[in-house]
Amino acid sequence: MEADGLLIGQCIYMRATIATDDGGELPVLTMGPIGILPQYKRQGYGKALLDYSLEKAAQMGFGAVCFEGNIAFYGKSGFTYASDFGIRYHGLPEGEDASFFLCRELRPGYLRGVSGEYSTPQGYFVDEALCEEFDRAFPEKEKLKLPGQLW
Ligand SMILES: CC(C)(COP(=O)(O)OP(=O)(O)OC[C@H]1O[C@@H](n2cnc3c(N)ncnc32)[C@H](O)[C@@H]1OP(=O)(O)O)[C@@H](O)C(=O)NCCC(=O)NCCS
Repeated sequence: MEADGLLIGQCIYMRATIATDDGGELPVLTMGPIGILPQYKRQGYGKALLDYSLEKAAQMGFGAVCFEGNIAFYGKSGFTYASDFGIRYHGLPEGEDASFFLCRELRPGYLRGVSGEYSTPQGYFVDEALCEEFDRAFPEKEKLKLPGQLW
């Protein structure tokens, strides 16, 4: 996302699957990370970027999006708890708090009658040591938890 000639936001999507309890595989999308440049936060850009990209994903024919997130932000764009759709989070023991795991249909009814387990795509798993090494190639920055950071 650009404003005033400046790159102020980005988000990425990746293909993911739900392993359905009847032994099938249902393709879905997952999204993240999404980020807005600090000085542009809380002005509606994050929601605009999310809504625009969701609309594009729907136009491309994807049926649903599942990810880990905060309902306070994503709820405004139609996301609800994945448990409401009968979708479980991979590896989370039954009875554990799953309120971080959200879902939204892009095609109405896509998840109707589905129950199963979502897995985070392998592409999201990184070697932390390699990441630290990569980061060392850049000028040192202090790691901070900033206001507005959802995760
Ligand atoms: C999360 C993020 C993308 C939101 O973008 P944004 O442009 O600031 O959000 P918007 O202005 O579009 O917010 C829309 C609504 O969502 C809700 N919301 C936004 N950020 C929120 C937060 N941090 N906590 C709770 N609610 C939030 C608010 O209700 C907001 O409306 P309001 O400002 O009128 O109250 C942005 O704050 C960010 O880049 N955070 C750091 C990275 C991050 O945590 N990304 C998410 C995990 S990958």
